[in-house]
Amino acid sequence: MIRPSRLHRCESSITLFIAAVSLVPLTLVAAEEPVLDNGRAVYQAACASCHGSSGRGAPPSLLALDTPPPDFTDCDFANREPDSDWMGITYEGGPSRGFSEFMPAFQGALTVEQVQLAVNHIRTFCTDQRWPRGELNLPRPLITNKAFPEDEAVITTLIDAGGLGSILNKFVWEQRFGPRSQWEVVVPFGWLETVDVIEDDGSTRWSSSMGDIAFALKHAFYHNHEKGSIVAIAGEIIFPTGDDELGFGNGTTVFEPFIAWGQILPANFFFQTQLGAELTADKDKAENAAFLRCALGWTTTTGQFGRAWSPMVEVTAGREFASDADIRYSIVPQIQITLNKRQHIMFNIGVREPLNERDVRNSQVVFYLLWDWFDGTLLEGW
Ligand code: HEC
Repeated sequence: MIRPSRLHRCESSITLFIAAVSLVPLTLVAAEEPVLDNGRAVYQAACASCHGSSGRGAPPSLLALDTPPPDFTDCDFANREPDSDWMGITYEGGPSRGFSEFMPAFQGALTVEQVQLAVNHIRTFCTDQRWPRGELNLPRPLITNKAFPEDEAVITTLIDAGGLGSILNKFVWEQRFGPRSQWEVVVPFGWLETVDVIEDDGSTRWSSSMGDIAFALKHAFYHNHEKGSIVAIAGEIIFPTGDDELGFGNGTTVFEPFIAWGQILPANFFFQTQLGAELTADKDKAENAAFLRCALGWTTTTGQFGRAWSPMVEVTAGREFASDADIRYSIVPQIQITLNKRQHIMFNIGVREPLNERDVRNSQVVFYLLWDWFDGTLLEGW
């Protein structure tokens, strides 16, 4: 049952909400009002009633909205989303992105250009330039690591398409700290099919185990929104926690330093690359190796601000330092889609196809489910 006091609060917030929304078109058509041709003017006329002139949100007592407006001066929050997300929310309203209906739709009241001006003005509220902009947060490829620091949980699965069965999963938890840094924990686990040596009749058996748990630190030491570039260095320590006898790990500690670069290209294309080394503690267990991974992709949306689709193709190259080792190449065509309205839950699926040594390397189906946990819980924003 809804208690009277709650009902009252509900009604009053709806009244205020309607008042605020109906004020907007009125303000816009009033002849004496300043022309809405700059960010401040649009923001003051259309947004400040709820978001406050300072961007911190109008006092709650004035608004009585069930969902308070966010604080645009908080750089940690305000730099994460690209302009396209904020313009979508503003043009099509909160519910179009799984947000509150108290954030009205300005389609019809403002032009797309005026919405862009208002969003430009919101961008001036965070004055700390150290935080990389959300535009530089490019779609995550299946194999190549990104340069952007993330608050994400990702579970990636690799399934061998031929030979003995192999299903390997990697759970990654990533968390940002400070404007440009991130730590992460990687927990692999899976199932492998092996020939049964005890029976010795060609029969096979499945075994399961955890793999080598890893811990990594990443720091984006350079980013430039105008140039569309972001570069990060990272170091990962991989501990021999997996059962290497069964094939679930290296059997030795591995240190993996790498550099990652993300670049926005014209016409919604983007490029990402990662160059790194695997330095092992015990050369008898695993050789030192180097790798280069590159991803070229393109993003399109359903409608002007809708669901994002990002086809990508990755090319990976890896080589053990041993003198007679060949470089192993793979190509990984894939497509990433955003699953929910808020676009913070994504799915990517592709095929990892070996380009050489195909007699000893299998094709693999690779997919991940990604949750950008800063943007909402798993159940929010559908
Ligand atoms: C009637 C009150 C109201 C008005 C007017 C209003 N907003 Fe909002 N806005 C909100 C509320 C409430 C939220 C929080 C929604 C949520 O978190 O579910 C919000 C959220 C947002 C967000 C959210 C971002 C995010 O990623 O969480 C953006 C961007 C935004 N508003 C932009 C604007 C712009 C630009 C204008 C003016 C053109 C405007 N708003 C006018 C109430 C309003």
